[in-house]
Amino acid sequence: MHKVITSMVEYFGCDVRRINHALKVYGLASTICRCENLCEQDIEVTEIAAVLHDIGILVSEKKYGSCIGKYQELEGPAIAHAILDKLRTKPDTIARVCYLIGNHHTYTKIDGIDFQILVEADFLVNIYEDEMDEKMVKSIKEKYFKTNTGLQLLDSMFVLIS
Ligand SMILES: [Fe+2]
Repeated sequence: MHKVITSMVEYFGCDVRRINHALKVYGLASTICRCENLCEQDIEVTEIAAVLHDIGILVSEKKYGSCIGKYQELEGPAIAHAILDKLRTKPDTIARVCYLIGNHHTYTKIDGIDFQILVEADFLVNIYEDEMDEKMVKSIKEKYFKTNTGLQLLDSMFVLIS
């Protein structure tokens, strides 16, 4: 994992805000994976995807002048693929990580516990970073949170009235 993290840091350069975002999502994703007793393979995929999930953001900004989710999803997998290939990551791990990165804002495509946990961890970080209001947090909780650990973390970090 340390090599994926150093590669991500190197790629983002002095964009410390994005580096911090990726590290926070990684920390929470890793915690949820372990509390939910995932197998080693699923933990590896989820952790790598968490570190690299927004890796397409710089190219999106350059190419389209926008960092909206759709463009990130489009550009992220190729960059992640190149990074992971260089680190000699197993092909099936790379394929799944690239699928998660390529769809991480498309919640209708959630098709596994790794994807679910990535989405929950990203929300836990974005709720704070984007200063979402209570109504929004409640709606996100109802629509997108499923794991016991994700729900516990959300309730603990963001105290909701009623
Ligand atoms: Fe994110």
